[in-house]
Amino acid sequence: MPLKQDANAWTHYWSKASAKPRGCLPDLPGVAADHIQEIWLQFFASLPLGARLLDLGTGGGAVLIEAQAFRPDLRLTGVDYATVLPELNKAITLYPGTRLENLPFDDGKFEAITSQFAIEYSNVSATIQEVYRVLAFAGSYLFICHHADGVIVRDNLPRLKALREAISPAGLLYTAIQAVRQQKKSAPETWQQLARIFTATQHKHPDQSLVKELADDIARIMAGPDSLEKLLAMRQAVEMEGQRIMALEKGALTENRAKILAEALSSKQQPAHLEVVHVPGVSAPFAWRISSQPRMMAPTRLGG
Ligand SMILES: C[S@@+](CC[C@H](N)C(=O)[O-])C[C@H]1O[C@@H](n2cnc3c(N)ncnc32)[C@H](O)[C@@H]1O
Repeated sequence: MPLKQDANAWTHYWSKASAKPRGCLPDLPGVAADHIQEIWLQFFASLPLGARLLDLGTGGGAVLIEAQAFRPDLRLTGVDYATVLPELNKAITLYPGTRLENLPFDDGKFEAITSQFAIEYSNVSATIQEVYRVLAFAGSYLFICHHADGVIVRDNLPRLKALREAISPAGLLYTAIQAVRQQKKSAPETWQQLARIFTATQHKHPDQSLVKELADDIARIMAGPDSLEKLLAMRQAVEMEGQRIMALEKGALTENRAKILAEALSSKQQPAHLEVVHVPGVSAPFAWRISSQPRMMAPTRLGG
């Protein structure tokens, strides 16, 4: 998929999102969110006073929000190629519209570089070169990346199928748009047809609450004003989400790709540590953790 299209799909997402610590995974179960937070706090705790930290693919600033709360002394910068990002605290410097493969910073500017579910979407070899260029001598990095066999990818693929079906010619959304275009939005046969498609789609995707959500939204929109405009906006949102899931599927790291990435990071200053992140109580992997330091003891929250 062309880079610009990917960036547009994320711009669409962030332009409608507010900054929140769970970022692009707002539905993450508490136990997984706590586990990831612990990993970040360990890393922040290891950084020197006043260190400059760069977060790659920062999106809604999930990592930076945590960093600022835990280590207010850190000087925080985030980059992302989405051109619109949620507003963050003014002390955090954001660079929207910025590709990871071509960072607008001087050599050695940052003592720490982070990324949460972002570098794997980029051209990884170009991004790694940039990481080494802008990382200060003996600086540290921590990247949490999608795991190709992980729960996030596993849960998103069936959702992608349901999304695709909704916009396919026999699908709910497509059928609703056609009916509105043909000025048949109130005709009983339109509602009967939509009800039939809904039942068949739910039958095919029994675990996808998305089908019911889409059907409810379509019914609400068709019963109100400006139906065509709203349904077209809904179709755009569905297409954009589909693009983001396809990018996730493509970017998520297999073991082989994760090893190659870690090796490429190792070659310059220090060995990179690669490990699988498991969420307590879940057997499937959650993510990869690639870092300049091995894991340490659990940190204690500052002031609490
Ligand atoms: C899954 S989101 C993660 C956002 C955030 N780090 C979080 O944890 O919530 C991936 C982010 O990476 C950004 N991204 C992907 N590829 C990129 C690239 N080549 N250059 C810059 N940003 C990129 C996207 O725009 C998106 O905001």
